[in-house]
Amino acid sequence: MVQFEDSSIPNVTGKIVLITGGNTGLGYIAALSLLSHDASVYIFCRNAEKSQLAIASLSKAISNPNTQKLGFVQCDLSAMASVRKAATEILQRVKRIDILMCNAGIMDFSNDGVTADGYEKHMATNHLGHALLVKLLTPMLEESARGGEGDVRIVVLTSATVNFFAPKEGIIFENLKTEQKELSVEQRYAQSKLANILYVKELAKRYPKLLCLAIHPGLVETGISYGGCQGSWGDYLWTMFFNSVAKFCWKVCGAGMKSPEEGAWNQIWGCVGNREEMKSGEYYEPVGVEGKGVALTRDAGLGERLWEWTEGQLKLSAE
Ligand SMILES: NC(=O)c1ccc[n+]([C@@H]2O[C@H](COP(=O)([O-])OP(=O)(O)OC[C@H]3O[C@@H](n4cnc5c(N)ncnc54)[C@H](OP(=O)(O)O)[C@@H]3O)[C@@H](O)[C@H]2O)c1
Repeated sequence: MVQFEDSSIPNVTGKIVLITGGNTGLGYIAALSLLSHDASVYIFCRNAEKSQLAIASLSKAISNPNTQKLGFVQCDLSAMASVRKAATEILQRVKRIDILMCNAGIMDFSNDGVTADGYEKHMATNHLGHALLVKLLTPMLEESARGGEGDVRIVVLTSATVNFFAPKEGIIFENLKTEQKELSVEQRYAQSKLANILYVKELAKRYPKLLCLAIHPGLVETGISYGGCQGSWGDYLWTMFFNSVAKFCWKVCGAGMKSPEEGAWNQIWGCVGNREEMKSGEYYEPVGVEGKGVALTRDAGLGERLWEWTEGQLKLSAE
């Protein structure tokens, strides 16, 4: 385990960091931390109003507020057209990108259909939208790696739920253009988070100049941990009970549900920690602990198939 705290953050002055879902939860805390160390941060969020509130609160919280360093890009990751628009916008606004943090994510208990593009919602938001963003930004990321100091990173948030809930096949490709009602919400979430881990490995193989990491933050009290409250009464009661016990356990024995401030360290470490301590393509549990994923997370054949499937879908979306 790596000891990583605020004083471990190196000089990041001038680094350009893009964070999807930076308006709340872990993304917000990561944005705050990197901004307060003088990086420039752009948050990619779907809800403009909520994001302006986050921008105002981030500006107020950093000791030397400088609006040049903080930006918002509208981006709904569940809609390919919105991701394309967001990528075009950021490519016009910045000359380089040092860190792309694919942080946004959903665990959706509402069970209300597929996305506008026709995909299962978790796969669309958590994996496919991010894959498109990465694809469209890769030329600038690679250029930044060549032209600058060379330390360019893609940090993708995943989840250890993969180890418990992923379907036994890993990813059920045949049904990704359905609601996948045959799977539970937890299984659909874990399937998309497995895709995050496998995709990072594929990126690392194809883009050796970039450092690509898959990060599990731990169990953290954020909007996503209350996702069950949008579901049935049973889901609601179970979520409230589980979270209360998990928060109590964290306080009593240091294992359970952390606050976002405590939970964001693994992704901040991935963004700015010592590169020599990290392996591109690896999956890390908090903080900096590698090698904990189940066999599915290392299934090279499944990773290759995911890459091919994803490329096919991204191509279709461009037509
Ligand atoms: N909290 C945990 O215990 C935990 C554990 C393992 C992994 N993770 C992962 O950590 C990451 C951050 O989650 P969190 O815990 O900080 O949850 P959160 O507080 O619910 O934040 C999720 C973020 O994702 C954004 N988002 C959701 N759907 C989006 C869409 N279609 N387009 C653009 N942005 C969208 C949300 O924006 P809106 O405000 O617009 O909804 C929000 O900013 C996720 O990838 C999650 O899977 C969390």
